Amino acid sequence: MFAVMQGASRGDDVYEEDDSVQSLEAHVANLTGHEAGLFCASGTMTNQLAFRASLLTPPASILCDTRSHVFRYEAGGLASHSSATVYPVEAIATQGHHLTVQDLEREFISDDEDVHMAPTRLISLENTLSGTVMPLQEIQNIRRFAKERNVRLHLDGARVWNAAVAEGCRLKDITSEFDTVSLCVSKGIGAPIGSVLVGDKGLIKKARHFRKMFGGGWRQAGGLAAAAHWCIENVWPTMKETHTLAKHLAEGLEREGRGAKVYIPVETNMVFLDLAGSGIRLSELSRRLEAEKGIKIGNSNAPETQTQVRLVLHWQISKQAVDDFVEVVKDMASTTTTPAMETLGQDRNKAAYGSR
Ligand SMILES: Cc1ncc(COP(=O)(O)O)c(C=O)c1O
Repeated sequence: MFAVMQGASRGDDVYEEDDSVQSLEAHVANLTGHEAGLFCASGTMTNQLAFRASLLTPPASILCDTRSHVFRYEAGGLASHSSATVYPVEAIATQGHHLTVQDLEREFISDDEDVHMAPTRLISLENTLSGTVMPLQEIQNIRRFAKERNVRLHLDGARVWNAAVAEGCRLKDITSEFDTVSLCVSKGIGAPIGSVLVGDKGLIKKARHFRKMFGGGWRQAGGLAAAAHWCIENVWPTMKETHTLAKHLAEGLEREGRGAKVYIPVETNMVFLDLAGSGIRLSELSRRLEAEKGIKIGNSNAPETQTQVRLVLHWQISKQAVDDFVEVVKDMASTTTTPAMETLGQDRNKAAYGSR
């Protein structure tokens, strides 16, 4: 990766003169079945640019899963940048797995509603969400629903690379169903930085303008683009193994953790662990993992009441590291005399995301 970064072009991307950036943008556009791409500094930026370039005149609202990143973890950017409000939607029909048309229908606001309401102009989905995969069939149903109502469809595809691998389909089978897609390269793909927004040429031109306005136009971004390109070619193909390893970790933790629970299905590379039933303290687990196996998970100062942790696997994590992790949990579970703690009213989702 560092070698290709050294060999990258040194053009000025603000003037669209950098070959490595252009090549990455064209490559991701092609992989996703869209006309054009825009390489940016972060997934938050590519989500926010998609909304800003799509939602032109207030009043406007968007529908998204109540747990979604664009609603909870983007510092209120939607309201600030796009003057839009969010109606968060609960995934009731699937008991919290993913949104369905049925869920969206409940919250949809048409232009004919009274003036108290901000009409739905855009639906934003997230795939994967907490590591779980939205079935392609459901995406296609929602696409039809959005089209019939003339609203735009955005995908926060920070981890859509994982979703395609887990579904066993082409990336574009998922992404071409959307008007805009944000794809992070800094997460499962393993690049140092960045995210690519894809859409039609007009939308991307507008987003490029807004990016400049937000101060996000960057000059010699070629080295970063080259790293991302290399990772798509070399890391993405290893993702299936990472998913298998995540399952292996989850099974080991439940088997040896004596009451430890994995509370969200492991469908890609994330393991959401709740230690409440095992009596193992998260802070102590963290300290022992680091001291005995050189594994850092943070949380060494976790409060007594925190029992949940999100573990995210990537291509550089070995099977040995996973086995070492399970071994420490096994040892702690066999010597723990503390009675099992209750999950003290934790907001599961908050605790999970909060553990980053
Ligand atoms: C689903 C999802 N979307 C968007 C983002 C934002 O990415 P960034 O941290 O690059 O702004 C994240 C970050 O964790 C995420 O998990």
